[in-house]
Amino acid sequence: MFSPLPSAKAMVPFVSVDNMMRLVHHLGIETVLAELTDTIEADFRRWESFDKTPRVASHSRDGVIELMPTSDGRVYSFKYVNGHPKNTAEGLQTVTAFGLLAEVSTGYPALLTEMTILTALRTAATSAMAARHLAPKGARTMAMIGNGAQAEFQALAMKAVCGIDTIRLYDIDLRATEKAARNLDGSGLQILSCRSAQEAIEGAEIVTTCTADKQFATILTDNMVGAGVHINAIGGDCPGKTELHRDILKRSDVFVEYPPQTRIEGEIQQMAPDFPVTELWKVVTGEAQGRRDARQITLFDSVGFAIEDFSALRYVRARLPGTDFYQNLDMIADPDDPRDLFGMLLRAKENEETI
Ligand SMILES: NC(=O)c1ccc[n+]([C@@H]2O[C@H](COP(=O)([O-])OP(=O)(O)OC[C@H]3O[C@@H](n4cnc5c(N)ncnc54)[C@H](O)[C@@H]3O)[C@@H](O)[C@H]2O)c1
Repeated sequence: MFSPLPSAKAMVPFVSVDNMMRLVHHLGIETVLAELTDTIEADFRRWESFDKTPRVASHSRDGVIELMPTSDGRVYSFKYVNGHPKNTAEGLQTVTAFGLLAEVSTGYPALLTEMTILTALRTAATSAMAARHLAPKGARTMAMIGNGAQAEFQALAMKAVCGIDTIRLYDIDLRATEKAARNLDGSGLQILSCRSAQEAIEGAEIVTTCTADKQFATILTDNMVGAGVHINAIGGDCPGKTELHRDILKRSDVFVEYPPQTRIEGEIQQMAPDFPVTELWKVVTGEAQGRRDARQITLFDSVGFAIEDFSALRYVRARLPGTDFYQNLDMIADPDDPRDLFGMLLRAKENEETI
């Protein structure tokens, strides 16, 4: 029988930007960051059960558009994400994203969601997970170099997960630092605005670099980095786009997400293809050592990997039932007879004409 309304099977839950913000505030941002950190860590623990591939990147003069797929054999996910450092000058964001989860058993989508906010949350949670294993014990102060869209998320995740209580901000654009300081006011963090990267890293046990530039940049030079710090390098995440002087890498123990992707995109693109790195998942499982001693420089060469997005998507999916933080989208054609797709199209026309 012809049914003009989409069936339940046609519907895919969709989380808009507005609903993502409502969900985050409903749960509390620090709770979300802490729970996301644990969710990502749980998936890093079962790293070997995932399909893995370097992300598929389409580069242009202005930026990059990337697809990031993975699957654990039961659930599949992908994220669409861009990186366009010139965008902010045009009133657009550097990074925007959306993503999807699907059931492997049927191939049917199970969730479609905005991921611009979710990417900022998951990137911060991944940084916090790495710092939990690599930062010096009792670290309380973080330098935050690059005070753009990701900055406050990074600061709050380090507070919620690692107990950071002081943030030293620096950006080449003073307005970005003022914005971050304003947004973090009342967060419980002590905030200091600095006039140079050098000033920002004074006394910091964790140094986060989170700048955006479409070229090799030197946010940190070798002489700026003292013994014992943990560097959380977020911004160098594309071929030709790095933040650290290569001499820093030579003095550091470098930890990465997925080497085949990081060797193309991360700080280590500056080094030989066999430059030694440790995979972060092995630190999480205890197979490899994280921080060994108080003088060691640890470096998380973060580029962002698909499994972190998978974790973030499954986290959001688990929190939706019983809430109104989503809308159902009529996304999947669902003819009464699965083979009669064309008939469904014809009947829709007849229905239009009788209205
Ligand atoms: N590793 C990951 O998983 C991951 C995830 C998301 C974003 N990113 C990357 O992180 C970077 C930051 O992203 P965003 O969304 O915050 O970008 P954004 O454009 O909002 O902010 C970048 C900030 O860096 C500042 N900056 C540029 N050059 C600088 C310099 N030399 N010294 C100090 N500050 C400088 C800019 O003024 C700007 O305020 C981007 O490169 C993005 O691609 C990485």
